[in-house]
Amino acid sequence: MKTLILAAGMGKRMNSKYPKVIHEIFGKPMILWVIETAKKFGEVAVVLGHKYEMVEDKLSSDVRIYIQKKQLGTAHAVMSAIEFVSKDDNLLILYGDVPFISYETLKRLEKVHLESNSDVTILTAILENPSGYGRIVRDDKIKIIEDKDADDEVKKIKEINTGIYIIKGRYLIENINKINNNNAQGEYYLTDILKFTEKISTVITENIDEITGINDRIQLARLEKRIRKKINEKLMKEGVRIIDPDVVYIDPQVKIGKDTIIYPFTFIEGDTTIGEDCIIGPMTRIKNSKIGNNVIINRSEVEKAEVKDNVSVGPYARLREGTTLDTNVKIGNFVETKKTVMGQNSKAQHLTYLGDATIGKNVNIGAGTITCNYDGKKKHPTFIEDNVFIGSNSSLVAPVKIGKNSITAAGSTITNNVPENSLAIARERQINKENWVLKKGGNKNANNKK
Ligand code: UD1
Ligand code: CA
Repeated sequence: MKTLILAAGMGKRMNSKYPKVIHEIFGKPMILWVIETAKKFGEVAVVLGHKYEMVEDKLSSDVRIYIQKKQLGTAHAVMSAIEFVSKDDNLLILYGDVPFISYETLKRLEKVHLESNSDVTILTAILENPSGYGRIVRDDKIKIIEDKDADDEVKKIKEINTGIYIIKGRYLIENINKINNNNAQGEYYLTDILKFTEKISTVITENIDEITGINDRIQLARLEKRIRKKINEKLMKEGVRIIDPDVVYIDPQVKIGKDTIIYPFTFIEGDTTIGEDCIIGPMTRIKNSKIGNNVIINRSEVEKAEVKDNVSVGPYARLREGTTLDTNVKIGNFVETKKTVMGQNSKAQHLTYLGDATIGKNVNIGAGTITCNYDGKKKHPTFIEDNVFIGSNSSLVAPVKIGKNSITAAGSTITNNVPENSLAIARERQINKENWVLKKGGNKNANNKK
């Protein structure tokens, strides 16, 4: 089955410079959620209008694009893409601003459509407040009457048209041009496609969030909040402890293992996996990362990183892209890592920058260590082999390699490779000038003035 996604509207009520469907929900343009679901059924096309170039930029090249220059109604939108429709295939119609329609519901719609051999199968819902929606009128035949065309009797009907349908390609191609715009809005209504057949089925969905369209930023925030609540509740049922689910923000694709505890003000985003028995947060943000079991991440930022079992991170650490921490690694406060691999049991506990570094096992990185990986033009690598001890406040000027078991003295600026089992000292030797202070007339702090 092919899918056509209608998305030509600007979405005036967003009050934005950008077309509505590229506004993000859960960190992704809303239309991409729809496309992702639609792709499970086959080929996908979208109808774009307002500022279509901006939407085009966000789409992958396998999505067909049709442009509807003027938005004259939903039937007109389908007409602009009619060459996409195959006579011998069904067409699923979705909206670019209804992001969370589920695969399961669409599968159910498809099943009913095929089994009933209908020309049109409509997804409907029962709403306490149906105003604004087209109503499903069940007389001798099913009709849809738009809110603006409805009389008081029809307005009382609570069953609404979600705007999602499956239509037989042949039926659509043969009848779409018969639709006129003689109605309250002067628009070509796709709902009028029902006029030319008796073979109409309906499927009711009870999941209102999945058919909720977004018209303004208030609806956007509310929908996101309702879905977040469901995500958190599902995770809690699966055995994750969330201390206060009102202040924990977890994206739909995230997976978290049993007995992990999530503390407040924590964001877990994108394609992130977290294992069992972890303690995450408070005030932590993890994005597109893979976290093992029994990991502690406290008040830290983690992005595009891999953290293995029994690692501890933070407080106030920042793991950036390309960081891999092997088991039992410890990263402490004010440590930043980028494109850095740390072997088992290695530690960087305080005030450190590790960039483009390959660090072995059992390495101790002293407080204030900096890998000087950038010479103003290019990035260079640092290699620190197993069991190395980097003294506090060392600068490792890359490219450089510190051999196995070696030690760098505190305060060293290491510019040359250090062989195995060596001590590298790269700093001025200390001179003590005895009684210098007294000769200079004392030190007022020491209260030893002559
Ligand atoms: C439509 C349905 C209504 C249903 C409601 C569900 C019609 C006539 N009415 O109403 O029965 O209850 O959806 O939300 O179909 N679009 C275009 N080109 C156009 C017009 C619309 O691409 O010329 C797109 C919009 O960008 C939007 C979608 O189609 O994504 C729906 O358009 P909208 O104007 O919101 O439809 P409604 O009039 O609300
Ligand atoms: Ca609408």
